[in-house]
Amino acid sequence: MNESSYRPTYHASVPRGWANDPNGMIYWRGKAHLFYQHHPHRPEWGAMYWGHFVTEDFVRWESLPIALSPDEDYEAVHGCFSGTAVDVNDQLWLFYTASRPDAQRQCLAVSDDGISFRKDPENPLVAAGDLSPALSVREFRDPCVFRHGEGWYMLAGTRVQGAAGDSPAEGFGNVALLASDDLRHWRYVGPLLHAQPELNPAYFHLDGVYECPDFVEVNGAQALIVSPQRLPQMGHAHQNLHGAVCMLGALDFDTGAFHIDSIEDLDSGFDFYAAQTLRMPDGRAILIAWKEMWDRSFPTRSEGWAGTFTLPRELRVEGGVLMQRPVRELEAYRRDPVHRDALIVDGEREVDGISGRTIELNLTLRPGESMRAGVRLFRGPEHETLLYYERATGLLVFDRSRAGIPITGREPDVNRRVCELGPKEAVRLRIFLDISSVEVFVDGGRHVMTGNVYPDPGDTGVTFFAEGGPCRFDGIEKYDIVVE
Ligand code: FRU
Repeated sequence: MNESSYRPTYHASVPRGWANDPNGMIYWRGKAHLFYQHHPHRPEWGAMYWGHFVTEDFVRWESLPIALSPDEDYEAVHGCFSGTAVDVNDQLWLFYTASRPDAQRQCLAVSDDGISFRKDPENPLVAAGDLSPALSVREFRDPCVFRHGEGWYMLAGTRVQGAAGDSPAEGFGNVALLASDDLRHWRYVGPLLHAQPELNPAYFHLDGVYECPDFVEVNGAQALIVSPQRLPQMGHAHQNLHGAVCMLGALDFDTGAFHIDSIEDLDSGFDFYAAQTLRMPDGRAILIAWKEMWDRSFPTRSEGWAGTFTLPRELRVEGGVLMQRPVRELEAYRRDPVHRDALIVDGEREVDGISGRTIELNLTLRPGESMRAGVRLFRGPEHETLLYYERATGLLVFDRSRAGIPITGREPDVNRRVCELGPKEAVRLRIFLDISSVEVFVDGGRHVMTGNVYPDPGDTGVTFFAEGGPCRFDGIEKYDIVVE
C-alpha cells in the first residue's frame, strides 16, 4: 500500500518535503485544483513554492508539477506565499504574495493549460505603500480574489493602523478590502474589522496577522474564514496557539466594513489552519485546511515529509450556524459495512468487526447516567486515542496523550482539546480514521474536531466505554474506507 507508515490513504498529503496552507483552490476544466505552500527540498518550512494537486472526487489526489517557484528578485528570499486562483477567459490566474523581508506584495501568474504558469511582467501588482499609509508594508499577504456583482475584490491579511484606536507601530491584525475593475489596478476600500462592543476586544487588538482570509457565500449567508495568529483563548474557544475561525456577518463592499454576527472556531481539535474554499459547479462550497499547526513537532519528518490536508468539507449555514460535512464523494469508498444497534456499555466493550485504521465510524451516544462515555480509537498494547462525552461538564473531549509518538508544541497542552456541547441526551458522532488522522464531525457537522496521532501500525483496536454508569450507543455503523 504505502511505503511510509504515517501517510494517510484518503487525505491529500505532500509527496515529499514540506507543505502548509492550501492555495488557489478552484474547480477548473472538470477537475478540482488544490495548490499548496510547498518547500520541496526538506520537510521544513523554507523558501515557498506552490505545489499542485488535482482531483476528480476529492479522494484520489494526482500530483502535478510545481506551479510556482521562487525565482524572481521581488520574492527573494521567502518566496511565493499563499493566494487564490480565478478563471479569466478560460485562463487560470493565480494571485499570490511575493514575500521579501522588507515587503509583501501581491503578484499574478497565468496559465493556459493549468500546469505551467508564467509570472506577469508587471509584477508585483499591489504594494501596501501605494494604497494607504495605514497598511503594513511588511505584513500584507494571502490575497483572496473574487468577483462580486460587477467588480473584482481582493482580501489581504495585514496589520492596520487606526481601525481600533491606538495601535503598535505595525498596527493590529486586520483584513484589507481592495477593489479593481481589471484585476491589475487595485484601490484600497478599507479594513474589514472594526471593534464591536458585544465582542471580545482581543479580536480587534490582535498582535499578529489575520492570515489567509477567504470570503464565501453559503446559502445566502456571508462568511469570512480567517486564521488569526496568536488569538488568545476565550473560555473553551481558540485553544490552539493560532486560531482558524468563521465569522458570519455582512460585508459592506463600499466601505470594507464587515459586521460580525458570530465568530466560531472552524474546528475544536488540534490540527487545523489556513482554510480555503472552492465552489463546485453544483453549487457546493467546499473547504479544505492545512491539517497541521504551527509551532508544533512534526513526527513524519523522519519519513522525509510533513504536511497533510483535512477531508474536504461541504459547507452549509443552517439556522444561522455553519455546518460542515465530509464531502459526499467519500461514500463511494466505503467497504465492508458493520451495523450494530442498541449497544449498552457499562465498562468497556469491543464489537465484532469494528476495528481498523482507515475507517469511518458513525454512532449516536446516549450518555444516560454515565459520567464519561465514548470510544477508544487506534487502540494497541501501549496506545489509545480517547474521544468521550463528559456529562458533568457537557464537554466532548479528544485526548491524544497516549496516542503514540508524543507531540510537542508551544501551548501549555498539546494533548487535550474540548468541544463545548452542553447537556445532551444524544451526541451524534461521525469519525474518520486514516493511519495518523482523526476527524470527528459532531451532530451533523455543527462542530468538528481534527487531530493527528502517531500510533503503531498494529494499533487498530476500537472499543466502546462508559464510566460511572451505563451508556447506550445507537446506530453504530463502521465502514472501511478503501482507496485501491
Ligand atoms: C499561513 C501563512 C501565510 C503565508 C504562508 C507562508 O500559514 O503564514 O500567511 O502566506 O503561511 O508559507
